Amino acid sequence: MNLPQETRYRAYSDWSKEEIAKINENVNQSPWHASYHIEPRTGLLNDPNGFSFFNGKYNLFYQNWPFGAAHGLKEWIHTESDDLVHFYVTGAELRPDTEHDSHGAYSGSAYEVDGKLFLFYTGNVRDKKWIRDTLQIGAWMDKDHNITKCENILIHKPADVTEHFRDPQIFNYKGQLYTIVGAQNLEKSGFIKVYKATDNNVETWEEVGNLDFGSTGSEYMIECPNLLFVDEKPVIIYCPQGLDKSELNYDNIYPNTFKICQSFDTENIKLVGASEIQNLDYGFEAYATQGFNTPDGRTLIVSWIGLPDIDYPTDKYNYQGAMSLVKELSIKDGKLYQYPVEAITSLRASSEQFTAKAETNNTYELELTFPPNQKSELLLFSDSKGNGLSLIVDTKEGKIILDRSKAGIQYATDFGTIRECSIDTKETTANIFVDNSIIEIFINKGEKVFTSRVFPEKHQNGIQIKSGEPTGKYFELKYQNGSKIN
Ligand code: FRU
Repeated sequence: MNLPQETRYRAYSDWSKEEIAKINENVNQSPWHASYHIEPRTGLLNDPNGFSFFNGKYNLFYQNWPFGAAHGLKEWIHTESDDLVHFYVTGAELRPDTEHDSHGAYSGSAYEVDGKLFLFYTGNVRDKKWIRDTLQIGAWMDKDHNITKCENILIHKPADVTEHFRDPQIFNYKGQLYTIVGAQNLEKSGFIKVYKATDNNVETWEEVGNLDFGSTGSEYMIECPNLLFVDEKPVIIYCPQGLDKSELNYDNIYPNTFKICQSFDTENIKLVGASEIQNLDYGFEAYATQGFNTPDGRTLIVSWIGLPDIDYPTDKYNYQGAMSLVKELSIKDGKLYQYPVEAITSLRASSEQFTAKAETNNTYELELTFPPNQKSELLLFSDSKGNGLSLIVDTKEGKIILDRSKAGIQYATDFGTIRECSIDTKETTANIFVDNSIIEIFINKGEKVFTSRVFPEKHQNGIQIKSGEPTGKYFELKYQNGSKIN
């Protein structure tokens, strides 16, 4: 939503109780709230931040401008979880309240050091002429969720980057702490800067170079880079804005991509044996994915179900955006798989054989098998007039097609209403998670993923089988205590 700059950058303390109450009331009017996905309490949710394990719990913050569905003066909102499925807002917030983050506490990551969680983030600063500076800064969160900011700037903007320099991701590689930061160079190409913590002190960083990962630089900026390790193989996940479409086919305004690599050469700051660039997700919206390697050796990611610079049907209710399910990464036969964590099955409240249904409560999981040599089509969020979200699983031609053109309220149609990807022509499975206005589809247990919003009209809550003979289960899903996560 387009709001004037002075509204978006109004100090938090200037918003009156009455104004905030009105925003809350409006958010509550929406018919599209998710039941088991994280949504903002109010305003706009974008990137996952500070995803980490600390104090015996999983910690996940989200970027938020709390006063409306627009990108304004951002803060981080803290949530925590025992099982990576049920998340609770703790009340801790990283506010934009110092001269180093005066125009936003932008995205970043977190890492436990000596019983405290270190938050490493970008301070967005503008001067009176609205000229931007970006600083990489830090804060500490203790076990009681008290947040204390570091006084010093931890990484100043280097001479070879423009004002676009943000989203530090901290990670440990063989006992050394590194951080990578998304950047734009003076020729306006995207790249990634690499730093290491001097003596592993997270408050002192030295530049070690620009990451060599075989990129062409056709993008104008790389946002939210993450270097993760899956079975010791480096996987780099990033958002190359403006990437040339001859390099990778994508339809969303900005893609979220990855490369699987063979090793990390820390001498030459090189990801050796980097694969081709690939789409992380084939749906209409998944962006700013953030991950970390857990102390028990798993690799977890979570994505923003939303995109920059897009208006959503929820905007009129003063909120926008949601967080994806937490997905665990694995590599099989050289392919990256992403699948919700095991505990997701704890949401299954009841189970029945899969059949068409005139009505559901639009909060369910389908676990389906599609036979080989067959074109199957399902219509989800369907009504009696034949409207709905069409999902074609074609094991004859080897294709998945998701068509949103007849599914509820239309938006972002400039970027097309169909998304597709290829699959092998053999028996195929799909786990489909529906949550009122969210759908996450995992083909072959995460070999291909489609993450999307759908904003159904009233009574668009059926499941129709238009063709083919998929078999499987329907599970009704229920979040613990039935309430939404906020
Ligand atoms: C990505 C992003 C980040 C930035 C944040 C600001 O969506 O643009 O690069 O830190 O959002 O909210």
